[in-house]
Formats: sequence, C-alpha cells, structure tokens
Amino acid sequence: MEALRIYTEKPYQLRGEVTISGAKNAVLPALAASLLTGEEVHLTNIPLVKDVQTMLTLLAELGAEYSLKKKSLTISAKKILSDQAPYQLVRAMRASILVLGPLLARKGRAVVALPGGCAIGTRPVDLHITGLQKLGAEIKIEHGYIVAEARRLKGAEFEFEKKTVTGTENLVMAAALARGETVLKNCALEPEVSSLCELLVKMGARIDGIGEETLRIRGVDDLGPASHRIIPDRIEAGTFMVAAALTGGDLVLREVEPAHLQALTDKLTISGARIEKSGRRSIRVIGSQEIKPQDVTTAPYPGFPTDMQAQFMVLMTQASGTSIITETIFDRRFAHANELTRLGASIEIQGDKAVIRGRTPLSGAEVMATDLRASACLVLAGLVATGQTTINDIEHLDRGYEKIEEKLVKLGVKIERLKNNNNHRTGGKP
Ligand code: UD1
Repeated sequence: MEALRIYTEKPYQLRGEVTISGAKNAVLPALAASLLTGEEVHLTNIPLVKDVQTMLTLLAELGAEYSLKKKSLTISAKKILSDQAPYQLVRAMRASILVLGPLLARKGRAVVALPGGCAIGTRPVDLHITGLQKLGAEIKIEHGYIVAEARRLKGAEFEFEKKTVTGTENLVMAAALARGETVLKNCALEPEVSSLCELLVKMGARIDGIGEETLRIRGVDDLGPASHRIIPDRIEAGTFMVAAALTGGDLVLREVEPAHLQALTDKLTISGARIEKSGRRSIRVIGSQEIKPQDVTTAPYPGFPTDMQAQFMVLMTQASGTSIITETIFDRRFAHANELTRLGASIEIQGDKAVIRGRTPLSGAEVMATDLRASACLVLAGLVATGQTTINDIEHLDRGYEKIEEKLVKLGVKIERLKNNNNHRTGGKP
C-alpha cells in the first residue's frame, strides 16, 4: 500500500502558481462517447490519473484502439469486439457504467457489471436503467450484471426523478443514436455534462438545450470523428483554492474556468479569502489570517459540490467558531471526519450533518484515505497539522489527482510518497 507523508515543521503558507489538469469527470464520459463511432476521436488536456487508465483498459477490452502522447489521445472503436464490462473494472471505477448507453446504442447489446456498494454510501444506477428502458431497451439483471438489449433504441420522453450526472450522460449518449427525438427532463447541469454534449455535437449529434435541465436529442444514424479539449478540473482547482485559504497562502491557479467555481468561491469569500480573476483562465486566492465559520449544504450544480465537502470540512476545523456541513447527495460520505478527529479536530456527525467546532490545532498522525475526496481532505489537513501526517491507501487519491505531490512540492511543501508503508495503523503499532 502506498502512502503520502507530509512534514510540517511550522504551518505552511502556500505560495506560488499551480496549473490545474483536465477534469477527470469530463474525460471519462468523453472516452465512453468514443464507442459511439467507428471514427477517430481526438481528445486533448487529458489528466493522467488512474481512472483514465482504468477506462482505457475497459475500452481496449471492448475493442477500441488508442494512442496517448503526453496529454493528447486519439481513440477509435472501429470494431466493437466485446459487449461486456467485467466486474473487476467496474468495481475499480463506478464510472465504468458510462459504457452502458454507448455500447447499447452502437452494438445493440451491453453487459455491464452492477457497481455495487462503495465507500461513500449506496449509489444505485436505477435511473440509468429505467431511462434506457424508456428508450426501448430490454434490461435484465443476471448474476450481478446489467444485460441490456435493443435492436435500435427509440426516442422517448424521460424525466429523471433525481438529478444524476452519469445517468444524464448515459442517456444523452444512447439517445444520440436512437431513432427519433428524445426529451430528457431534470438533467444534471454539471459542466461535465455540457462538455460531453458539446463533444457529441462535434461528432454530429443533434442536441438542443445544452446547459439546461431539458435536453432535446434528435437521433442520427451515425456519428463521426471529432476533436475536443477536456475542460479544467473544478474539483482539483477547488482543492487548491481551499489549500490557499486554509494556509493563509497566496496561490495563482492557471488553466481554470472561474465560472465553474462560483459556489466554492462564494463560500471561501465569506470565510475571509480574497479571490481575484488574474487573466481569462486564471484566478488568485489569497487566504486570510482569520477563517470565518460557514454552514454549507451540498447540492447538484450550480450548488456546492459534494466532491468539495471533505476538503471544506478541513477548512472549517480551522475556522473561528462552529459550522455545520449538510451532505444531501450521498449518505455515509463522512468517513473523513473520523480521520480528522484523530488529527485533533472536533467533529460530531448527526445523520446527514457534520458539526465542526473550530478552531482546534491539528497534530500529525497516521490516517487512512477511504475514498478519493477524503484523501484530498487528509492531504489538506496535513498542511496545517504539526509534525508528520502519513496518509495511507492513497490509491484513491491517484484515481483523480494528477501528480498532486509534485504540484505541492513546487509550492514549498515537504511531502514524499512511501512505496510500502509498513507502519500502517491497522497492522502496525497502535
Ligand atoms: C458523479 C461524479 C461524482 C460526483 C457525483 C455527484 C462522475 C464520474 N462522477 O457521480 O464525482 O460525486 O456525480 O456530483 O462524474 N442516484 C440514484 N439513482 C441513479 C443514479 C443516481 O438514486 O440511477 C442518486 C445517487 O445515489 C446520488 C445522486 O443520485 O444520491 C447523485 O448521483 P450521481 O449524480 O448519479 O453521481 P455519479 O454520476 O455516480
């Protein structure tokens, strides 16, 4: 198991510049969309993270060929050789479910493992299934797999009971090749959904209402080649914004889309940070000496992202008073609170709420990363926890953050990757 160790002799004040990578949550649907055509799809600004590798492995199993040079990727699914997304890949990355819609639309059959449980609570895919059934797919659940079949999907009207990001993406991709018009209501508004729609339009799809809750898709017979740049990762950007606010630092973030960061920008500003645009694709975040407490409720975009909840919690441990974070998207997404408590934070979980009493000094310890964003939260905590903080099981972090330790080293942080941390808390000394 790999670990990250942060050495904090005196609390850091992060200063300098950091370049934000392409969005993990935008590249995964874009890669899945390549299954919709036999032509080449060219993607740039690819983040080199583990989830991209997992998706490429899955697409290669399905018959796609790709070449990745630096951050540019050309992928082509001339022939689909298999219609099966096996459990070991889906288990490693839930977003594998994104191949369901495209495979079904292109091949007429898709067999995708059910993702099952996950560290941040129950995450059903029922809306993906009912949506595809509405488009005429026959779907059975057999031996832990979703088996979906349709000679050709037919356009229909479908309203999502609840906003779902990958659910919307799956349905848009399927509808792009369906016969006739599909109207999807209550679609997720996340920028990653719009970015996928823009790629599909470049491929020849006919989609109206991009960026709105109702999407109208007029199906076409074929899609063609396209080139597309992956949008900046707003969660990675948000993580560095919190890092600046938390450490009273002064950071310039390059290659960001400020409009995508509004909900977090608002909260950080009220907490005392100064956030300025510094060029079209850059922002500057200047932390203040006093962090004010803030209540936060997670919500679908444009609300406060659940993927920033854990990182914001660290900030609130250093605020001068009590704050309440309410998690409305996922149940059981507070595992990081226990780890923060081990570092000295005062956090009480009451159902979907976390009550954080600040300001408590944090001191370094061994902690365990339980999911992707929880890992990021523990890295942030390490920046203000005195002494050594060792974050175990950082495989989660590698799924979504590109070279995070290299980026932090450039900002003056003493951090190292331990290849085999045997002093793991569960197996080592108490
Ligand atoms: C995506 C993001 C993830 C983010 C999440 C919420 C990707 C690859 N992942 O995940 O980083 O945390 O959005 O912003 O883009 N739901 C159902 N039935 C369904 C589908 C979803 O009840 O069929 C529920 C979920 O349990 C959850 C809510 O809808 O309560 C939102 O989930 P969803 O937007 O689908 O999350 P993902 O697309 O899996």
